[in-house]
Amino acid sequence: MKDKFSTEIDAGEIRPPALLTVGEGFINPLGFHDATPVFSWKLPVGIKRQTAYRIEVSGDKVWDSGWVESDQSVFVPYGCEPLASRQRIQWVVRIRDESGRVSLRSQPATVELGLLSADDWSAQWIRPNTESDKKGPTSAIGEPMAEKVASMRRQFNLSGNISKARLYVTARGVFTLYLNGEKVGRDHFANGWTDYRHRVDTLTYDITTALQEGRNTLFALLGSGWYAGRLGWENKRKVYGEEPELLLQLEVTYEDHSTEIIVTDDGWEATFEGPILSSSLYDGECFDARRKTTVWSPVVVATDLGTARLAPKPMVPVRETNRLPVQAVSEPEPRRFVFDLGQNIVGWARISIPMEKDRTVTLRFAEMLNRDGSLYTENYRSARSTDYYTASETGLVEWEPTFTFHGFRYVELSGLSEDATPEKNWVTGVVLHSDLPKSGMFESSHEKLNQLQRNITWGQRGNFLDIPTDCPQRDERMGWTGDAQVFCRTAQMNYDCHAFFKSWLGTMRDAQFSDGRIPHVIPDVLTRGGSPGWMDVATIIPWEIYLHTGDTQILSENYRMMERLVGWYRSQATGSLIPELEAFGDWLQPFAENMKGDTPTSFLGTAFYAKSTQILADTATILGRNDDAQHYGAEVSSIKAAFSKHYFDAEGKLRGGVETQTAYLLAIDFDLIPFELQVKVAYHLVRMVGEAEDHLRTGFLGTPSIVRVLDRMGYSKLAYSILFQETYPSWFYSINQGATTLWERWNSYSHEEGFGPVSMNSFNHYAYGAVGEWLYERVAGLAIDPAHPGYKHFFVKPIIGGPLTAVRAELETGYGKAASGWSLEGDALRLAITVPPNTSATLYPPKEFSKDIRESGKLLDLVVSVEVLKVADGQTVVRLEPGQFLFTCKRTNP
Ligand code: BGC
Repeated sequence: MKDKFSTEIDAGEIRPPALLTVGEGFINPLGFHDATPVFSWKLPVGIKRQTAYRIEVSGDKVWDSGWVESDQSVFVPYGCEPLASRQRIQWVVRIRDESGRVSLRSQPATVELGLLSADDWSAQWIRPNTESDKKGPTSAIGEPMAEKVASMRRQFNLSGNISKARLYVTARGVFTLYLNGEKVGRDHFANGWTDYRHRVDTLTYDITTALQEGRNTLFALLGSGWYAGRLGWENKRKVYGEEPELLLQLEVTYEDHSTEIIVTDDGWEATFEGPILSSSLYDGECFDARRKTTVWSPVVVATDLGTARLAPKPMVPVRETNRLPVQAVSEPEPRRFVFDLGQNIVGWARISIPMEKDRTVTLRFAEMLNRDGSLYTENYRSARSTDYYTASETGLVEWEPTFTFHGFRYVELSGLSEDATPEKNWVTGVVLHSDLPKSGMFESSHEKLNQLQRNITWGQRGNFLDIPTDCPQRDERMGWTGDAQVFCRTAQMNYDCHAFFKSWLGTMRDAQFSDGRIPHVIPDVLTRGGSPGWMDVATIIPWEIYLHTGDTQILSENYRMMERLVGWYRSQATGSLIPELEAFGDWLQPFAENMKGDTPTSFLGTAFYAKSTQILADTATILGRNDDAQHYGAEVSSIKAAFSKHYFDAEGKLRGGVETQTAYLLAIDFDLIPFELQVKVAYHLVRMVGEAEDHLRTGFLGTPSIVRVLDRMGYSKLAYSILFQETYPSWFYSINQGATTLWERWNSYSHEEGFGPVSMNSFNHYAYGAVGEWLYERVAGLAIDPAHPGYKHFFVKPIIGGPLTAVRAELETGYGKAASGWSLEGDALRLAITVPPNTSATLYPPKEFSKDIRESGKLLDLVVSVEVLKVADGQTVVRLEPGQFLFTCKRTNP
């Protein structure tokens, strides 16, 4: 008999499954949040289909699923009793393939749980004694700064051989930890931004090898962060609490199984005397290296843990993911040096500069420059976004801040000594964001389209900083729901956002108002909500994640939230089913009278009421809630009927309001009107686009639909024409003005007219990047099949057009890599497609290339993994089994 993890291959055995993950894509997680983790694995390339699986769990729980006849290889439920806090299991999986061959066991994977509830904590919240620091710190420039940073420490002795040490930690505020002088982990702002009144996320670190026998020191920096720092343009402070606090529990196990525990308690001491005078998310950090701590005071210990849920963070924290070198240095004003990274990023600047003792350098940041080369910072509004560093000695200074971040391309250094001649390597751009795994790539033969894809991706990185923010630079940086809703589908193509959004949806459930409305921003710091297109984040994001991943848990978790939202719409729409609502409208529509655009808010209210109800009905069907499905299905039909009648005449023209592209787009995109009417509505849409000389006229809500709807209604040429426009308003317009991220407005800046209205002028706002999904799905042709979510089955349906001669997209799906690419040479088209194991795809070779279709040179009838499903009206439809394919075909009528 072979031992459990033998890698010897028997006759009939096949290679093992690999890339084992639990939950939303976690690889061997430590400090996991879910006591009943679901399991996923990928089949080795070459296997077509799984017909059965067997999972074996060992460690703190023992479980054997036995052979289960199933092709399910993602989100397979855990069938054992729930894991408890700290428990660790190891699991392996085997599969049987389509010809009955059994695979080897996979390499073992592990899951270790964090502390699942407050009961697991014997630590207490501690905070520095503010009485000991009545004056408050003074910054290097003599200005009192509000957001102080405390240093906290605890020394302790360990004796014996340590076999395991786990550090559980969080803050109400932001923290950075050091053990014996070394930073613990690679995370920044690790506990992130949740509504701390309801939920505080905790982190787990394995510090077994970092501890030493004898004396050890834990040292923490503690800042206000989102907890007690200033938030929003209304300048709210201390939204969640007065002073930041730390909670930490170090559990040490020795080789002889004895244990020791070090917790935050009255044995800790704290001071405000450290070198960080202040650090604020919006305003920057003030660091004076001369300040040395002399006096430590006992901390203040809270009497209880509070009522918020304490649970392991269910997603990856923010980390440094890249460092960008400076491209150019200029001196637009005497002794003010501007370093250009060539890319608008989010993070901070790391400086490495020669300094003299007692000198202070000032670092200012900007996304754009004024015409004279100086920094344009007006669009930061009240966010000061300025760092100060004062040197304690003469020599080379290497420094980066701790508890602030900036949205910037340019860094200005001033205050340098008179003879200093800056060099490029004095400044490095440090890129920070939630460290999500990259999941897709899109590239083409068109450089500007590639730039658009880069701009979308950079915008996503910078704005996915623990929560999906609207912008990363001004006095806002909040989880604006509308922005996230429109961008969510695109976001998932570029990065694996499954856990990221799932976590944020948890915060959203906590924040839903008692009447069912969803606040404008999540976490809710505005205490306002109720705008159609924004609120519908509560239905759209769970649904989009389900489509992309196949995870049904995200639907069940959020079902009640969806129902309550729809209930609110219903309460506003009595009688006519046309609710009159306060709304942001089609936000920032170009050429509109005001920022809300011209599409009537009642139109948007009804459209999104129907959209959310439709998602709710579809979700009910998937969850097997048949009565609900029927009942909500009937509600959608009534809303749609009322909507059609109220807003469209028999010829599909909008009535009772200014015609807008967005109105026509949403009516079709959301299937709000019967198909015959859609055809007529599309005619008006096309007319309007023509009147705009093939330009869009859409704001936040209409933009995601424009190319998608034109394409769907048979106007893909027009969709390409809009996509490749160079003039205002268009995606390439901002690129022509030098954009390296997506902008808040279609014309946030132009070479001719300068900067747009300063009150809303972010140069890193991802909403208009929502076009990204169409690049993957239709330009490259890698499209979701809603009937088989998670790419279990998908469509390959590229549009050959525009100035493109080659395109390629790849997506890391739950089953492995799916890819679609095409290239055109004269009248010959090549299509390269990858279908991952355990999935299938349906290829629609473009109609105009339906001559002499071959795969790897062979006629289709001769290829085993390919089945021609039909040839009708010149359209060939081909079913693809897992594998790699190279199709060639010729233009029908050259
Ligand atoms: C944000 C937006 C947001 C909007 C609501 C702005 O301040 O930056 O992106 O959706 O307000 O209208």
